[in-house]
Amino acid sequence: MATVPTFDIQLTEADLRDQLRTDVLWGLTGSRKWLPPKWFYDARGSKLFNLITGLPEYYPSRTERALLRTAAEDIADLAYGATELVELGSGSSEKTRLLLNALSRRGSLCSYVPQDVSESALRSAIDWIGEEFPQLSIHGIVSDFTTMLPALPHGGRRLVALLGGTLGNLPPRERAAFLGELHRVLVPGEQVLFGIGLVTDPAVMIPAYADAAGVTAEFNRNVLRVLNDRLGADFDPFAFDHLAVWDRDLEWIEMRLVATEPMRVTIPELDLVVEFAAGEQMRTEISAKFRLPGFRAELAAAGFAMRQTWTDPAHRFALVLAER
Ligand code: SAH
Ligand code: TRP
Repeated sequence: MATVPTFDIQLTEADLRDQLRTDVLWGLTGSRKWLPPKWFYDARGSKLFNLITGLPEYYPSRTERALLRTAAEDIADLAYGATELVELGSGSSEKTRLLLNALSRRGSLCSYVPQDVSESALRSAIDWIGEEFPQLSIHGIVSDFTTMLPALPHGGRRLVALLGGTLGNLPPRERAAFLGELHRVLVPGEQVLFGIGLVTDPAVMIPAYADAAGVTAEFNRNVLRVLNDRLGADFDPFAFDHLAVWDRDLEWIEMRLVATEPMRVTIPELDLVVEFAAGEQMRTEISAKFRLPGFRAELAAAGFAMRQTWTDPAHRFALVLAER
């Protein structure tokens, strides 16, 4: 029976604006400027990210898709009995189709719960998923997975997915807090599928975050446009250069915006004037890359057991199935 997808906005535009104000006050008034990554993803940002996933340099998406293609049946076997697939940061849900196909064939899956902070991404995903999987009940949730996991639906037996290397976008302390919270909201026996980037050659990793066509640069600058739109700021996005660096000690890619000239930016909604020196750098995102033994330890520290891993031949990306 085809049911109409439902849509649950747990995080309104007003909530988002309040949070953005707090984040900007924290991030732009200290001596080292930074902004948290969830602010990339307004409607334009989500579209730009989808373009990134198709770039020749951006190996993570196609590697993860290939892994899902080979592993989906195994995952469905290991997750046998799951009634609900809850996908955090689901974005376009494009790769998830492979999982949904395999899980649906097993017969236990009743519902798909895509969750994202980007309402526009979620709305377009829900449309095609509802058409392709009429037997599933689809329940989209607009929320923040770093703070709102307890508000996820429960009751059935869940398989949670966090793909696309999104876990690596959380700094280590927040990542540990997130994993701990995920452990608290799940019940024993429920499983989580992570898609994580692995440490590999910097000559491969860096271009994935600094493509020749400049799409990633535009994506990075989009955070400034979000501040302009939501807080009335007067950033000139073109006065900032995009920079991606590999931090070999911390083992993450760091995305930065570099002021090309001295600037004063006013943010009327916050009564704030922010000064940038020429060459000043602002951190906008990290993308941590993992090693499987270290990731196993991180999972264990949060109370999860690593059940199985799948990696591509070049060892650039991994799918990890963990059990609560
Ligand atoms: N899973 C998709 C998208 C990955 S990009 C893929 O693999 O292609 C990261 C996604 O997470 C974006 O859709 C973004 O909107 C979402 N996101 C980022 N921070 C979030 C947060 N704190 N809460 C919920 N969603 C978030
Ligand atoms: N989760 C993606 C990743 O870490 C997010 C991402 C891809 C990203 N390219 C980016 C974030 C460029 C900021 C800038 O790979």
